[in-house]
Amino acid sequence: MVNEDKEKIDLEDVPGLGRITALKLRSAGINSVKQLALYTAEEIEEIAKIDPGRASKILKNARALIKSGTKIYTMEEFEKEQYNKALLSTGVKSIDELLNGGLEPASIYEFAGEFGSGKTQLCHQLAVMVQLSKNKGGVGGKVFYIDTEGTFSPERIHKIATRFGLDLSLAVKNIYYARPINVEYLEDLVKGELIRYVEEVDVKLIIIDSIIALYRAEFKGREFLARRQQRINYILDWLKRIGKSYYIYVVITNQIITAPTGFATIKIPAGGNIIAHASTHRFLLKKADKVWKIESLDSPKIPKGKTALFRISDDGLLSV
Ligand code: GTP
Ligand code: MG
Repeated sequence: MVNEDKEKIDLEDVPGLGRITALKLRSAGINSVKQLALYTAEEIEEIAKIDPGRASKILKNARALIKSGTKIYTMEEFEKEQYNKALLSTGVKSIDELLNGGLEPASIYEFAGEFGSGKTQLCHQLAVMVQLSKNKGGVGGKVFYIDTEGTFSPERIHKIATRFGLDLSLAVKNIYYARPINVEYLEDLVKGELIRYVEEVDVKLIIIDSIIALYRAEFKGREFLARRQQRINYILDWLKRIGKSYYIYVVITNQIITAPTGFATIKIPAGGNIIAHASTHRFLLKKADKVWKIESLDSPKIPKGKTALFRISDDGLLSV
């Protein structure tokens, strides 16, 4: 359960936001000013049934109240902040090296691959790693694990946690698990409860394994493709807002599809341009003979085609 006693500014503290509007916002799952500040004026207009001018005024006041705005840096400050970023280790030396030290916060990491390529195992390992202290490669935070494929395994967590010397009685309390059954549940979860957990119980890592399964199941056929892409875009946009606003780590996995090229077919991550654009760092996982390979597909910091090898054991992912 979420710990309720952390200090919080109430919605009613926002100038121009009355009791009735606060009620409407709460019934839409918006519980804090910081959460409110993630919305656009159009969204608030729709949810609270208020006019556009009032919606944007409320948002402006909300952002002022929590001092959220676009920060301006000198390049010196920017470089310092980049340098001080806490990187989350994967617990695998070769993969950390590929990632320039580990996962950075406020970005979306996409790990795509065929079945058996290690996506879910990597997610389990990250769910453990995030809990470790800084000197052990973690960030001392909790994880919100969204499982759309039903492959989360407490046994794997036990094994991996033991390997990294994590207290099991803590590890089982620090992983929040949810299994949304359709796209609407997923959207509600991400916009609502997930944010509450991030704000109130120190969730530092969000995992969605996989981002695509529910959409593929629900929007079948070409006639629903545009709608599907629109909805995927919507959830990714929310993940981005959350990652940036709360400065936390976001990991999604993706399936692979076969796409025709001029002469042959190639295997590429599903979800088309929408996921490709939304992911900050995109990787392809592959199983070769006994070893697995991870390759950088697209990243502002890691050269395309750069690879690392790893193994999967009973105790999780290991360097080769
Ligand atoms: P899909 O979800 O089916 O698309 O695949 P995935 O990419 O998520 O694969 P996943 O991470 O579940 O599994 C990758 C591989 O890890 C499997 O094929 C197994 O070979 C290996 N694996 C999973 N669990 C264990 C385990 O307990 N011990 C060992 N040694 N290997 C395991
Ligand atoms: Mg999987």
